[in-house]
Amino acid sequence: MARIITLAHQKGGVGKSTLALNLALCFKDQLRVALIDSDLQGSIYHLKEDFPKLDILAPEKISEIPKLNYDLIIVDTPPYLSNRLNELFGYSDYVLVPTKAGFFDVMAIKSTLALIKFSQAQNQRLKAGIVLNMIKPRSGITAEVVELLNTLGTPLLNTRVFDRVSLARSSMTSGILKSTDQKAIEEVTFLAEESLT
Ligand SMILES: Nc1ncnc2c1ncn2[C@@H]1O[C@H](COP(=O)(O)OP(=O)(O)O)[C@@H](O)[C@H]1O
Ligand SMILES: [Mg+2]
Repeated sequence: MARIITLAHQKGGVGKSTLALNLALCFKDQLRVALIDSDLQGSIYHLKEDFPKLDILAPEKISEIPKLNYDLIIVDTPPYLSNRLNELFGYSDYVLVPTKAGFFDVMAIKSTLALIKFSQAQNQRLKAGIVLNMIKPRSGITAEVVELLNTLGTPLLNTRVFDRVSLARSSMTSGILKSTDQKAIEEVTFLAEESLT
């Protein structure tokens, strides 16, 4: 069975879809990769024609995940918690939780992390990590946020992804690897490495 990386956070606008797409593009030359959006609104599925070399599957394929023939399946999820998410965590090897670095943003992760912990009781393979995304170069990360992150019980990844115009545009410009923004490319490549280990 494929390795399954699911991106989840009950809040919208934290970068799940952006990172899911760019991670899939990072792996696609080394592994047989599929990208699926479990959201019926299917924002990633709408990109199918823009990324013909990437296998972007229809949301219905979620229920067939255990039978799909890939090395790696990256799953994007909608901004709410549901039983479906729980089912998805049951199949997953890794849940990547992107968050902004604001205090209230980090507070808002708690129910997503609780659902992950609930699933970990049944699925012993399941690991999870938090990645700080859209970090503002000027304000950075405050001591309060670092303290809060350390109490959550889910590891914080070493990779930090900054707020970058190139990433905001990446779904319209063939993905971050095709950009000239070396720093953004480096961050996403590190994130790809970290989420596979
Ligand atoms: N690191 C980043 N730097 C700048 N913009 C980003 C970054 N990550 C995501 N974005 C932008 O933020 C918005 C929300 O991201 P999105 O991936 O749609 O979040 P989600 O899927 O969690 O709702 C989008 O406009 C996206 O282009
Ligand atoms: Mg999204």
